[in-house]
Amino acid sequence: MVKLTGLKKIKTAVFISGTGSNLKNLIQFSKIKNSPISIDLIFSNTSKAKGLKFSNQFNIKKYVSSFKDSKISEAKILNLLNKDNIKFICLAGFMKILSKNFIKKFTGKIVNIHPSLLPKYRGLDTHTKAIQNKDKVAGCTVHFVIAKLDSGKIILQKEVKITEKDTPTSLAKKVLRQEHKLYRAAIKKIFT
Ligand code: GRF
Repeated sequence: MVKLTGLKKIKTAVFISGTGSNLKNLIQFSKIKNSPISIDLIFSNTSKAKGLKFSNQFNIKKYVSSFKDSKISEAKILNLLNKDNIKFICLAGFMKILSKNFIKKFTGKIVNIHPSLLPKYRGLDTHTKAIQNKDKVAGCTVHFVIAKLDSGKIILQKEVKITEKDTPTSLAKKVLRQEHKLYRAAIKKIFT
C-alpha cells in the first residue's frame, strides 16, 4: 500500500447497500485535517440504500448500478473510478461480491468492515450465530479484500462483550458503534 506523502488526501470511493452509518462515519473522518482520505464517490447496487442520502448532504458524487449483470456494473464502476482518479475503496455494508477481475485491478486497495471477529463467522447473520453459539465475545474486523469472501489480511479487530441479555439486534448496535471507531483506526494504520 502506498503511504501518504505530502498533503494530498487519497481519493476514495465507498460502496454501500444499506443504511450507510459507516459511510457517514467515513465522510466525517475524511473531513478531519489529518485524515489520509477524501471521499469522492459513493457507489450503491441499489437506489433503495438509505445511505445514498449522504451524497446530497455532503455534496459527494453518487452512482448506482444494480449488479443484475455484475460484469456490466463492475465495468461501469471501474470506468468511473479511473476517470475520477480514485485510488482506494472502502466497502461499508456492501452486499455484493466483487469479482476476482475487479479486485485484481485494485489489489491491496480495497478494504471491508465485517461484523465479527474473523475468521469466525464469515458471511451473513454474524450476531445471531455468535449468540446461538453462546459466545462470550463478538466484535468487528477491518480487512483487505481478496477474492475469497471475508478472508483477506486483517488490519484491525475490536472485541465487544456479549451479555446474557443481548439479542442479535442489541449486539449489532453495540458492534456498530465500535465499527465506526475501528474503520477510522484501520485507515490511519494503513496510510501512516
Ligand atoms: C455493518 O454492520 C457492516 O459491518 C455490515 O453491514 C452493516 C452496515 O451498516 N457489513 P451501515 O450500512 O454502515 O450502517
